[in-house]
Parts: sequence; C-alpha cells; structure tokens
Amino acid sequence: MPKPKHHVFICTNQRPEGHPRGSCAQKNAMLVWQKFADLLNEKMLFSEIFVSGVRSCLGPCGQGPVVVVHPDNVWYANVTEADVAEIFEKHLIGGKPVERLLMPEEVFG
Ligand code: FES
Repeated sequence: MPKPKHHVFICTNQRPEGHPRGSCAQKNAMLVWQKFADLLNEKMLFSEIFVSGVRSCLGPCGQGPVVVVHPDNVWYANVTEADVAEIFEKHLIGGKPVERLLMPEEVFG
C-alpha cells in the first residue's frame, strides 16, 4: 500500500435528533463524503489521496460538517457538497488550502 500524500477525514458522526451538540450527519456530511469519494474515483488518484468517513466526532460539531486534511493539519468548517470540488482541485491537487473554508482559529483556543 502506498503512503498517501493526503488523507482526508470527513466527520459523518450521527447523534439522535434533539441532541444539544447536533452532528455533522444531520448537516449532510454523508453527501460531502460521497462527493470526495466520487471525485477520487473519477480522478483515479488512489495512491496519492485517501478519503475516510469518520463515524466518531472530530470535535468542533458546531462548525460541521468538519473535514480535516492530513498531514497538513488543515481543518475545514461548514463544508457542503458544493465545496468539495474546490478543496479537491486547489488543496489536494494544487497544494493550496481553500482559505474561505478554513476553520476559525478561535475554535482551537
Ligand atoms: S459531530 Fe462532527 S465534529 Fe462533532
């Protein structure tokens, strides 16, 4: 197995309706994951990019759907299906994170 250049983690955690923290799954995270998987298949970059849906919460639920790109330690917030192609082209292929989607730094304070 090749070591990937990028590994994308998409939070797809699901909490019950009415849970005070909500969850990424309630905000269409599965569509985000599916779009990453579709683009990976389309571009056939399997040896360079891994895509994983994560069933466990990644932390900042209020900013979900949350996407993390390693090893860059880049965190994206409120990602929609419509944002995925831009992350794929600009960051995963082009090497430049998509500034407008970055997680606010105060989340990590
Ligand atoms: S449920 Fe996705 S970050 Fe917590």
